[in-house]
Amino acid sequence: MSDAIHFYQPSQGHRLPHDPFNAIVGPRPIGWISTQDALGRLNLAPYSFFNAFNYTPPIIGFSSIGRKDTLNNIEALGEFVWNLATRPLAEAMNQSSAPVDVDVSEFGLAGLTPAASTIVRPPRVGESPVAFECKLTEIVQLRGVSGVAVDSWLVLGEVVGIHILQNLLVDGVYNTAAAEPILRGGGPSDYFQTLPESLFRMNRPKR
Ligand SMILES: Cc1cc2nc3c(=O)[nH]c(=O)nc-3n(C[C@H](O)[C@H](O)[C@H](O)COP(=O)(O)O)c2cc1C
Repeated sequence: MSDAIHFYQPSQGHRLPHDPFNAIVGPRPIGWISTQDALGRLNLAPYSFFNAFNYTPPIIGFSSIGRKDTLNNIEALGEFVWNLATRPLAEAMNQSSAPVDVDVSEFGLAGLTPAASTIVRPPRVGESPVAFECKLTEIVQLRGVSGVAVDSWLVLGEVVGIHILQNLLVDGVYNTAAAEPILRGGGPSDYFQTLPESLFRMNRPKR
């Protein structure tokens, strides 16, 4: 590897065989979002432009690139559920990203069981070991630096209910790696798995 830097302005093109942006901002956690429309039809889809943004109250968010069923359903109902995508559920998570008609539930398509939520109307994925029940707080249409609106929406919601499979609580402490979360890398098909041996610890500097 040479010390030369490849610099580019995204607006002018990356001059590479593949756009590296997603591979650089990675691996990303996956927002596997279940929703329901006004008629009660179920929807499930993965969103890797996803993260947590606040502790108290807990707020999570994801970005819909273009108008999609998930965004429309959250606008209609003001509620959604985030489900943890794990290694055993990877195939099902991938299948749930199929661009299907609103009449087709990705739960059925991916062979997953809708499990009733406690507070919100959309169900959680029964097979997923962790789920956050969320209420919409805001939808922000994104803008570029020129101020022109982009065809993308950031959806933020407060987590109002949390389900955790008891096995993942070891002496009351949540074990991240034991849940085998999967993360999205770059390109059309790269994913990463979280393994216990990847763990290292570092304490924050004290004053
Ligand atoms: C791992 C993964 C991550 C994805 N991340 C996003 C994302 O961040 N934003 C987005 O708009 N689409 C994303 N997609 C594509 C959506 O899942 C896909 O468009 C899906 O059909 C949307 O479903 P919906 O119309 O039911 O909401 C992702 C797909 C996969 C497989």
